[in-house]
Amino acid sequence: MRLPSAAALMTVVRAAAGGGVRRCREPPAGPRIPAVRRSSASPQAVIAAKEPFPVELKAGRTYAWCSCGHSKRQPFCDGAHKTAAPGLSPLRFTPEEDARVWLCGCKRTRTPPYCDGTHKGEAVQGAPLLPRP
Ligand code: FES
Repeated sequence: MRLPSAAALMTVVRAAAGGGVRRCREPPAGPRIPAVRRSSASPQAVIAAKEPFPVELKAGRTYAWCSCGHSKRQPFCDGAHKTAAPGLSPLRFTPEEDARVWLCGCKRTRTPPYCDGTHKGEAVQGAPLLPRP
């Protein structure tokens, strides 16, 4: 599978919660952050996979990327966050063009829903995966 073009990565996504428009950017340069920083009071996303998921996106279709890691339909939401991770919600986005992309499976990317390579670090590769029924 080929990596997405720069144009595909610049796909405009819409955040469902605010209805706002967000542009995906290339990962910023600099040191990688090994884990999502959250307060101890907020739920923590679990690592669903230690690698990204290759996905064919269709222009105009709305997708809900699982941000909590509990979905059984990775990398997409199945509603599991409602009971397993209240306070986390999926990232809804609508690509403007068809694209083949890598969606993050580790839930530690800094460019959600797209993989930014964070999964290659020890924080993800050395972490245990939750058993799946
Ligand atoms: S799978 Fe999460 S950053 Fe690559």
